[in-house]
Amino acid sequence: MNHDAEQERKEYGVETTGHEWDGIRELNNPLPRWWVWVFYATIVWGVIYTMAYPAWPLVNKATAGFLGYSTRALVEEEIAEVNDQNAELIARLAETDPVDLAAAAAEDEDLRNYAINGGRAIFAANCSQCHGSGANGVQAAGYPSLIDDDWLWGGTVEEIAYTVAHGIRNEQSLDARYSQMPAYGDIFSAEEIETVVQYVMSLSDSDGDGTNDRGYAYDTAAVEEGGQIFYDNCAACHMDDGTGDPFQGAPNLTDIVWLYGGDEATLIETVTHSRFGIMPAWGEEYRVGGGLSQDEINAVALYVHQLGGGE
Ligand code: HEC
Ligand code: HEC
Repeated sequence: MNHDAEQERKEYGVETTGHEWDGIRELNNPLPRWWVWVFYATIVWGVIYTMAYPAWPLVNKATAGFLGYSTRALVEEEIAEVNDQNAELIARLAETDPVDLAAAAAEDEDLRNYAINGGRAIFAANCSQCHGSGANGVQAAGYPSLIDDDWLWGGTVEEIAYTVAHGIRNEQSLDARYSQMPAYGDIFSAEEIETVVQYVMSLSDSDGDGTNDRGYAYDTAAVEEGGQIFYDNCAACHMDDGTGDPFQGAPNLTDIVWLYGGDEATLIETVTHSRFGIMPAWGEEYRVGGGLSQDEINAVALYVHQLGGGE
């Protein structure tokens, strides 16, 4: 630095930094006071901030900060809060008798929303593998659609909750819904089976033109004899008029909703071998590794009930 400070002060009022480019000198004006103070203030603020909040990384975790703030604690607090709010709903859902469940849900929107949202998740996790994610069933396997208004065992919330808790024809719950259609292959000749099947097909022929409402043609000449076989053997479960019996889970044979299928070949198969569809019991007491608790059963029953065809 070969500049003369005294000389510069005279010439420019301040010293220069000694830098000069093409005759332009850089003056060494001091920073404004306010700026310097703001600068110091930010340093002080920064130091206090890093002491107050989690900041300095250590080996396993960062310094905690004297305010004890943590985003994790915040999330935990929020989750606990939501659980607290739901605890009351969960308790009410568990305590409400399934008989009163529909009325309770109709009265209390919070309860209803909680049950149906929860029920949807429970259904996706436990039921959709058989009944399909849209609950429309899988006919080839005899998993019924739960979105129509055709119920094998009854479609009130109470009846659905019972079906879910105890299941159907399983060996887990002694109270499982139970019935057994005989396999008529051991009882009837193939001809008799074919004959009664013609009658079954005629049950869903609303205009009686020999082609039923599903578009399957049948042999009208066999209907009378088939009707007699039906009356003598099948009506005890499927009723005289074929409309079925929810106490025995005997399907209505007069509509176009089929559990296993309404074409001739499938009907012959059903009557010859019978089916014995099994649904597991979901009550906690029947499942090793935990089934559904009462509040969950009630929630999923409400969910299934509102899918479309609840009674
Ligand atoms: C392993 C397959 C399977 C699973 C899993 C299953 N179901 Fe079922 N479910 C069936 C079968 C099979 C039937 C029909 C049985 C029959 O022929 O009566 C049935 C029938 C039903 C019925 C009676 C329908 C009616 O028309 O009356 C309801 C309600 C039902 N299931 C709900 C559920 C719910 C809710 C879940 C989940 C918690 C579930 N199911 C899980 C196989 C299953
Ligand atoms: C003991 C009661 C009982 C008797 C008797 C009975 N069924 Fe059934 N039937 C049932 C039950 C229960 C089912 C439900 C299927 C299952 O077992 O999973 C059924 C199912 C059917 C189905 C299937 C319907 C569908 O939606 O896919 C047909 C068809 C049928 N029965 C016809 C007959 C005929 C015909 C007779 C007489 C020859 C007969 N049943 C006698 C109880 C009975």
